[in-house]
Amino acid sequence: MESALTLSTGARMPVVGLGTWKSSRGQVTEAVKAAILTGYRHIDGAHVYENEKEVGAGVRAMIDQGVVKREELFIVSKLWCTYHERPLVRGACEKTLSDLKLDYLDLYLMHFPMGFKPGEELFPFDAEGKVIPDNSSFLDTWEEMEKLVDAGLVKAIGISNFNREQIEAILNKPGLKYKPVNNQIECHPYLTQEKVINFCHSKGITVTAYSPLGSPERPWANEDELSLLKDPQIRAIADKYNKTTAQILIRFHIERNVAVIPKSSNPGRIKENFQVFDFKLSKEDMNTILSFNRNWRVFPMDWASKHKDYPLNAEY
Ligand code: A2P
Repeated sequence: MESALTLSTGARMPVVGLGTWKSSRGQVTEAVKAAILTGYRHIDGAHVYENEKEVGAGVRAMIDQGVVKREELFIVSKLWCTYHERPLVRGACEKTLSDLKLDYLDLYLMHFPMGFKPGEELFPFDAEGKVIPDNSSFLDTWEEMEKLVDAGLVKAIGISNFNREQIEAILNKPGLKYKPVNNQIECHPYLTQEKVINFCHSKGITVTAYSPLGSPERPWANEDELSLLKDPQIRAIADKYNKTTAQILIRFHIERNVAVIPKSSNPGRIKENFQVFDFKLSKEDMNTILSFNRNWRVFPMDWASKHKDYPLNAEY
């Protein structure tokens, strides 16, 4: 049986979701269908992944075929950084809803604490390859996101890639109407994120782990870089449980009450990644896996390092 995390709104978020970053438009509709047929009820997407129409087609097909009802699904999307200025937030959410052909989202996240120059380009870069900021403040953007809840467009709102100080800034914002229910961050055995997870949990904010398998498809990967899926120590633990390395990497989060969104476009691997509810990792093995931390990031976001709200200068 799949478990779920309870959000501060009382809603339940299934602990394993299908990730869709890098899922090609040609494959993602089938991937979403395969996932829902397998039992996934949580689908994670974003405007910037440029595949929301195709994700929506998969969701729609499963609803139309009676496999699942809309209210049994937990659909997540994210506000892209070029829409942080107050007048742009609602339109961005409406665009995602119309692409997905849904009338509400279960969770809408601010994708980054950083606003970028509005316009056609999703990543507006200057001559030095650094992102060009907008004039927004993420506190103002948050207020606009709160209005989406009141308008019934989204059931809950959250954040992604926020550090502790930035989370506290939202929690301490005068007149705060809705607390973030979730912070989605990179997390895996090479970036175990103990401090920020403990902080979020202490504030009633759930955490979702992205890049749980180390995102081997990231375009900037070097051949000699670390690979979670090939790590011999993780493989040794997997052998002990008669599971695959990917299943250990996914179960690792479930043991910590952290949601996890492995991406796959392959129906066999989509199934494999969901077969994680029939075993438990021992405390000892969890501690061994936690000891693999080396603060290594799939997403160092160097291109944003000069942004006033770059989240990765702080310890956590
Ligand atoms: P594919 O889509 O061909 O299955 P992350 O979720 O960390 O971003 O990792 C996603 C990457 O991991 C994709 O390249 C995906 O490829 C691959 N992947 C997903 N599931 C598995 C699995 N069970 N075993 C090996 N590779 C996997």
